[in-house]
Amino acid sequence: MDPFPAMKNDLLLRAARGEKVEKVPVWAMRQAGRYLPEFREVRSKHDFFTVCRTPELACEVTLQPLRRMDLDAAIIFSDILVIPQALGMEVQMVPGKGPVFPNPLVTPDDIQKLNATPDISKELGYVFEAITLTRQKLEGKVPLIGFSGAPWTLMSYMIEGSGSTTFSKSRFWLYRYPEESKKLLSILTDVIVKYLVGQAKAGAQLLQVFESHGGFLDETIFNDFSLFYLRRIASEVKQHLISEDITPVPMTVFAKGAHYAVESLAQTEYDVIGLDWTMDPEKARSTAQKYNKSLQGNLDPAALYGSCESIAQRTTEIVRKFGGKGHIANLGHGMHPDMEPEHLNAFVEAVHKSSEELIQK
Ligand code: CP3
Repeated sequence: MDPFPAMKNDLLLRAARGEKVEKVPVWAMRQAGRYLPEFREVRSKHDFFTVCRTPELACEVTLQPLRRMDLDAAIIFSDILVIPQALGMEVQMVPGKGPVFPNPLVTPDDIQKLNATPDISKELGYVFEAITLTRQKLEGKVPLIGFSGAPWTLMSYMIEGSGSTTFSKSRFWLYRYPEESKKLLSILTDVIVKYLVGQAKAGAQLLQVFESHGGFLDETIFNDFSLFYLRRIASEVKQHLISEDITPVPMTVFAKGAHYAVESLAQTEYDVIGLDWTMDPEKARSTAQKYNKSLQGNLDPAALYGSCESIAQRTTEIVRKFGGKGHIANLGHGMHPDMEPEHLNAFVEAVHKSSEELIQK
């Protein structure tokens, strides 16, 4: 028996499985965040990782955007960098700079210092609690998405120690220390699999894996150091759930910038392939159809800087290109802090209106 309230809106889950929908579901990466005054209010009282680690606060900020907009999904408030923390690394969120690791990995010897097999429920149980609480509080209104960073994206932060424009330190590792890099990626993969299984068991109804730094790799390096591990994650998460008699939840992979990888990702066990805004929906659609996959995306986030009329017009064009079936509308990357909530709302409304018209035809 499902212990959670019955679903009133399961558009996201149906679209992820490629089933028929009355309208295209829509949510936005970083829909909980600093562009919302009510989020800034919470952040003025609590630091970033305190919000992540306090289930009541994480639940509250997860629900904030849903009170304003007719979104079809909630995404649990957390961060991809909770995994490096679980492995024993310190991560600070520095205002105006973003995440900073005071002691990044410098040489492969530093891998020894990691706690490679953490007790996931002890180290990350706060995320599972936030998920379960949020499922209750959502009252079945919309599905709840769980997520994790992908191994390469996490590895790159752990080595760079912060964001970077070139990711040259972490890419150095891939070419200079390929075997040790693979060792680190496989440590991360094992932890990510357990973490995602734990999220599904706690109540997450779809799982998204963020390979935000995919586009820094060429195709052959991507295949060996990213795709290999992404594939393992989808297949092992589903296997684990099946072995525990739990119906596997749909999974989304978002490999930002990895144009060349749309087809190879469509050949994995992910149900949904996320597209950034530079990728062509029509081309991706013909690939996705071959493998029975759904797509997510892909309005340029910067389009939200335009007028509400121009947002509606661009959104309508994109919705038509995806064709209404097997599509989860989203931005091609996250919201920026200086965006107006009303402009995100214009996107949400335009997805619903234009897709209803398209599907009725
Ligand atoms: O609403 C949601 O999407 C859920 C919450 C969420 C956050 N981070 C909250 C957050 C999610 C899904 C993430 C994922 C994440 N975190 C990614 C993958 C997605 C992507 O953007 O490519 C990455 C690369 C990170 C790492 C990270 N966390 C960075 C680079 C930053 C700084 C960027 C910035 O906007 O300052 C963060 C901080 C962060 N994560 C914020 C939020 C709301 C802002 C920090 C704050 O409140 O001070």
